[in-house]
Amino acid sequence: MTTEQLSSLASHRQQFPALANKLYFNYGGQGPLPQTALAAIESAYRQMQELGPFTGAALAWMSAKVEETRGAIATELQVSPSTITLTESVSSGCNIALWGCNWQPGDHLLLSDCEHPGIVATAKQLSHRFGIDVSMFPLMATLNAGDPTRVMVEHLRPQTRLVILSHILWNTGQVLPLAAMAQACRQAMPTVAILVDAAQSVGVLPLSLEKLGVDFYAFTGHKWWCGPEGLGGLYVRPASLDRLEPTFIGWRGIDMDIKGQPTGWKPDGRRYEVATSAFPLFPALTAAIELHRQWGTISDRYQRILHLSQLVWEGLSTIPRIKCLRTSAPESGLVAFQMEGYTNHQPFVQQLEQQNLMVRLIADPNCVRACVHYLTLETEVNQLLEVIQRELA
Ligand SMILES: Cc1ncc(COP(=O)(O)O)c(C=O)c1O
Repeated sequence: MTTEQLSSLASHRQQFPALANKLYFNYGGQGPLPQTALAAIESAYRQMQELGPFTGAALAWMSAKVEETRGAIATELQVSPSTITLTESVSSGCNIALWGCNWQPGDHLLLSDCEHPGIVATAKQLSHRFGIDVSMFPLMATLNAGDPTRVMVEHLRPQTRLVILSHILWNTGQVLPLAAMAQACRQAMPTVAILVDAAQSVGVLPLSLEKLGVDFYAFTGHKWWCGPEGLGGLYVRPASLDRLEPTFIGWRGIDMDIKGQPTGWKPDGRRYEVATSAFPLFPALTAAIELHRQWGTISDRYQRILHLSQLVWEGLSTIPRIKCLRTSAPESGLVAFQMEGYTNHQPFVQQLEQQNLMVRLIADPNCVRACVHYLTLETEVNQLLEVIQRELA
């Protein structure tokens, strides 16, 4: 990070109206939308009305915008645009992968005990519908000691078809050694596929998805990328495309003959896209990604996140009655902590919100999560610590 970047942060932050009137520490819930994205949404809706709405010109314009977004996402993830399916959320990306497998009764689906409730619910419904076994392995306990790779491998079974992991655990902030886990999984059982919930990693970690070696990587634009809600994506490794059949189907995913009859799937990630979407969201996400790039590289941004989360972690660790879940400095922007004697942290989170400070309650483990982005200021970190100290006094 250069001194120029740091001194430009205050003016850069002015692009984010949500940051002007509160102390925001819930980036893992949703990122603030920059002005450029808001403007892109409005201008895209206007353009669609001027050209159409439903005309050849409007369709061509909108299609070009969609491909620009796919390209911007692919560049960030260092993969080919053809590997990217545009979805509406992390959950919809996970659902494409989960329902697209050809499940047979008796198959086994393994997931960690730190997955998001929406994903756990999908796994349970698959078990109900297809008679598959679903089980969890104890990942949460490896936060400070233990080996996530070993624990996962120990829980694989000969019937395991798919493993679900999050790259960054949304509750504790732990960053998984994903490349090593994917490699170990393949070594143990070459036919097992890996689905990654990347809600908390995209926009935070420098990523090169091909090198990770996972099959499916589902993400969203509205958290750490600060894009509009309603637009996310799914990376499907080219070698894994054939093991995933489309489940929801519409005109965007198919090729058609001259009579407009479907002739087959689109050859790439577009086959899982369905139909009409809120297309003006696409240029907004492109604008948000571009704005982050203008401030600094993903490595610069990640380094700043680490610097800030360390400040939060160190500061919290000095406050009596507070226990950070991690015993060493965080590896992500998520800092999870507990207050001694609190069986329920909800009132505490609400009290902070009344003081204009936004953090998130986490149910399991019972804790509070404060998130820092590269956009966070050191002065905000100090204010966070002061407010918490005052609350507990
Ligand atoms: C790990 C994880 N998975 C999934 C989700 C759900 O995200 P979406 O609403 O984009 O599906 C979240 C949101 O907080 C999350 O943190």
